[in-house]
Amino acid sequence: MIQSIYKQDLFKDKVVLVTGGGSGIGLRITKELLFLGAHVVIAGRNEEKLNLATEALQDYRHQLSTVSCNIREEQQVDHAVDKILSQHNQIDFLVNNAGGQFPQPADQMKIKGWRAVIDTNLNGTFIVSQKIYKQSMKRTGGAIVNILANMWNGFPDMCHTGAARAGVENLTKTLATEWGPEGVRINSVAPGVIRSSGFDTYDEDFTAYLKTTPKDNKAYRFGTEAEVAAAVLFLLSPAANFITGETIKVDGGEPLYSPKFPHKEHGKMAPWDGTGKF
Ligand code: ADE
Repeated sequence: MIQSIYKQDLFKDKVVLVTGGGSGIGLRITKELLFLGAHVVIAGRNEEKLNLATEALQDYRHQLSTVSCNIREEQQVDHAVDKILSQHNQIDFLVNNAGGQFPQPADQMKIKGWRAVIDTNLNGTFIVSQKIYKQSMKRTGGAIVNILANMWNGFPDMCHTGAARAGVENLTKTLATEWGPEGVRINSVAPGVIRSSGFDTYDEDFTAYLKTTPKDNKAYRFGTEAEVAAAVLFLLSPAANFITGETIKVDGGEPLYSPKFPHKEHGKMAPWDGTGKF
């Protein structure tokens, strides 16, 4: 059962496109938006994943639709956005959450793998944003939130996604300037290590490494999908109407590490999992 710190009906009748909304952090964002009254369209390449999400969200079937599309492919994005706009007059919010990467040292990375990650995480984000701006937000205003990563000190063993996400962070600022005058805000959320379904997609070695990472932040634990969703929903909400071109890190202060100021073990920053008391 989803709960939210935000008030009921906060997003009533708003139309939101969440790319990669069928699983993990994207699915959590989708659930909370539905709970708060939005109509959510989830976009993804994998129809089976979209169908599973639809089944899991039966209680909200009147507020939910899916569109199958590879965000790297301009024509597929055109088609998907036109389809959404034929059903709803406008798209109020966009969450650029779809992405993917795989661990590999830079010197072993095939150019094909590098290109694929840049193509999804950077180019796909741009293609979807530009299309929705031109077809709807330029006319109606709106808000966009991009999902980044903790790449502030580079991203060893995932140089492709580090470069792509850094590109999206810069794009966030450019679009905030270019599209601000039309009433469009563009911000980003940069999650640290989040306990999410993405954990299941990595191989044994990387999963073993991930299990050691809670010690790498000031909260001394993994973050939750609900904590990332809370930041995304804040940036979409009217409470953030004076915020644009900005990035919120949701990472327990991981980049603040220095040998002088190491992270310390404690259990005093309880997770917000979207269900418990607060
Ligand atoms: N999720 C991960 N990669 C994607 C892509 N290329 N298009 C849509 N959703 C995705």
